Formats: sequence, structure tokens, C-alpha cells
Amino acid sequence: MSNLIKNITEFALYLVQGYISEGDVVVDATCGNGYDTLRLAQLSPAKLYAFDIQQEAVDATRKRLREAGFAEKLENGTIEVICDSHDHLTDHVKTFIQAAVFNLGYLPGADKGCTTSASSTMRAVRSCLSRLEPDGLVCITMYSGHPAGRQEKEHLLAFAENLDKRQWHCAYINLINQPAAPPEILLITRKKRPE
Ligand SMILES: C[S@@+](CC[C@H](N)C(=O)[O-])C[C@H]1O[C@@H](n2cnc3c(N)ncnc32)[C@H](O)[C@@H]1O
Repeated sequence: MSNLIKNITEFALYLVQGYISEGDVVVDATCGNGYDTLRLAQLSPAKLYAFDIQQEAVDATRKRLREAGFAEKLENGTIEVICDSHDHLTDHVKTFIQAAVFNLGYLPGADKGCTTSASSTMRAVRSCLSRLEPDGLVCITMYSGHPAGRQEKEHLLAFAENLDKRQWHCAYINLINQPAAPPEILLITRKKRPE
């Protein structure tokens, strides 16, 4: 296993995979170049939804999935790569979900202006929580090294800190001795309903 503390995106995926079993419904809210979507597809969910607002990202994700042997799952709808904002999630996802992954920011190598924003991210996170199974996980990787990312992080942390402790557990992972605003992870899980 790679050194997870040195590689925060691997750390996020490592945590998420512990929550997903074959047959679950899973969301990648920001598919980008498709690396995270592919890792989620390899966990054999019953349904995988991947969102991005950029057609370029949707095409890159579909290509990566096809090349990795998931063409049939794309064709039969087991995996849906959707060119739409994640804050329209409930237009597409009609069931409960076991996990949702947000890897915020902009598409590496593309227009840095096309970045996730606090307002739509907050709406999308709320939608995911409204659909989250007990013991399911929403995992958000945040990048506060740019102004929109800083604002997003502030909104997300304020929101998570104030979630009802009887219903939710929230954790925040940050690299406290690293310079230049390294990526950070916010985790939100729904507590099991009392028996
Ligand atoms: C850091 S990249 C994601 C990396 C990706 N998970 C991967 O494995 O390659 C962030 C992505 O979020 C997308 N994005 C920005 N705003 C969005 C929105 N409102 N809804 C969905 N995706 C959005 C960007 O287009 C970009 O591709």
C-alpha cells in the first residue's frame, strides 16, 4: 500500500472503499478525468453515477472506463456518466446511496476558472446526505489553495460542525505541518437508526 498520509486522494479512496460493498449505489460527484470513477467501478457497485459539468471530463471518464473493461456496464446503464451539475443530483438519482465522493476544484490541465463552487457544492452535499443510507459515507476532498476552494472549505466545515450529532458523525483530516494549503478530507456518515 502507498503511504496514504503522503497521498491524500489515495487516502480518501482507501476510506471510501471500506464503506462500499458489491451491490451498493454509489456517486462520484466530480468525475474529472475519471480516476476516482474507475476506482469506484472496480468495487462492483450495482449502480454508479458520475457527474461533471464539463463535456471534456465526461468524455475522458467514459474513455477511461471503456479502456479498463467497463464498456458493457456503460452500455447497460450500471454506470452512468452524466454531464450535469452535481447539485441536480436528485433529478438523476432516485434511490438511497451508500457513498458519494467529491474531489473538489478544477480539472487538472484544463480551465482553472471552471472550478466547483461553494453554493452548488453545498446543495449537492445536502442532496447526498438526504439520500444517504445509515452507515453510508460522503467523502469530500477540499483544496483551499485557491480563493473558491477556501470559500468552499469554510462553508463545508461550518456546515459539518453544526450537523445534528444524534444523526451524523463528521471527521476532518488535515495535514497540520505541511505548507501551501495541502488537500484536506471531510467525512460525513449517517448514524444507524436506533433499533
Ligand atoms: C479535481 S477535478 C475531479 C478529479 C476527478 N475526480 C478525477 O479522478 O480525475 C474537479 C472536477 O469537478 C468538476 N466540476 C466543477 N463544478 C461542478 C459541478 N457543479 N458539478 C459537477 N462537477 C463539477 C470540474 O469540471 C472538474 O472536472
